[in-house]
Amino acid sequence: MLKVGFVGWRGMVGSVLMQRMVEEDDFKGIEPVFFTTSQVGQAGPDVGVDVPPLKDAFDLEALKALDVIVTCQGGDYTKKVYGDLRQAGWKGYWIDAASTLRMEDDATIILDPVNRHVIDAQLARGAKTFVGGNCTVSLMLMGLGGLFEADLIEWMTSMTYQAASGSGAKHMRELLNQMGGLRDSVADELADPASAILDIDRKVTAAMRSGEFPTDNFGAPLAGSLLPWIDTKLDNGQSREEWKGSVETNKILGLQDNPIPIDGLCVRIGAMRSHSQAFTIKLKKDVPIDEIEDRLAKHNDWVKVIPNEKEATIADLTPAAATGTLSVPVGRLRKLAMGGEYLSAFSVGDQLLWGAAEPLKRMIAILKQQ
Ligand code: HSE
Repeated sequence: MLKVGFVGWRGMVGSVLMQRMVEEDDFKGIEPVFFTTSQVGQAGPDVGVDVPPLKDAFDLEALKALDVIVTCQGGDYTKKVYGDLRQAGWKGYWIDAASTLRMEDDATIILDPVNRHVIDAQLARGAKTFVGGNCTVSLMLMGLGGLFEADLIEWMTSMTYQAASGSGAKHMRELLNQMGGLRDSVADELADPASAILDIDRKVTAAMRSGEFPTDNFGAPLAGSLLPWIDTKLDNGQSREEWKGSVETNKILGLQDNPIPIDGLCVRIGAMRSHSQAFTIKLKKDVPIDEIEDRLAKHNDWVKVIPNEKEATIADLTPAAATGTLSVPVGRLRKLAMGGEYLSAFSVGDQLLWGAAEPLKRMIAILKQQ
């Protein structure tokens, strides 16, 4: 039985992973060992099978005893532990939610409904390091997989509308505090239907700009606003999040030698945990919309094509509809005014499920079958 160590299982992505694994009985058939950075010796979590007391996440000897290590602890942990473990001769499987190792040559980015062929080929070659992709990239590929599979995409832009959860749990709380702060700043006026909307707007704007407004995590107001920058700046003017869209997509698909150009702007908006993206896709040929819809819908069990109608779109193609589900709705499918080879699309997906925990969960299941 595979001995699988879990690190960072209490954080946001880790908790979603635990919840999904319990829901689908994934702890059966493995020997789970839980690690901690602060509570060594305490009882492990209740996951439906016996687990030993918590072990020290920095104890290389304890880690070396494992067949698989799954970490949702973050990049700093990976940087601290991974190299030492490998240098010490550990040959187990490392499954990581953090981006640290993603672009390393010996790391495979995992999104099996899209790149199971790449994962299988890497396993056959003896690869041992598997890393979850960037959330917008994974969600984009889950939504548009049918077009990539048919090699129909010449180039693509992705303009994102990313949720607070992508920055972390504290940011989600800050967003809600910002929302509450705005509402509280005009509570009296809102209670009075006769109050003037421009007075309300003036007060809300003043609240947003005041030194009291909670912005420690985002660094600026997000509620009632948006932030058109995610992550650090690269020399070419892209943000790191925008850079990932191209390099990770092409790596996931095994297209590094002949990459599909993908670029766009990544924007943080006031959604809680579902990322949305608007795409402009230059097709290699003028494919009819019904064929496009058919290819998209058939690609995997989770993508859901939403008819290009207002009612269906606002009911099903929103963070409010997608959050907490494995569904990846994709809609607003239509040819753009530029011509029959130009397609628009819009997709939404839960950033913590397909965007983070689900590919890791499924990689453990793949290893169980090896
Ligand atoms: N980098 C993403 C974001 C989340 O900031 O939304 C993780 O992939």
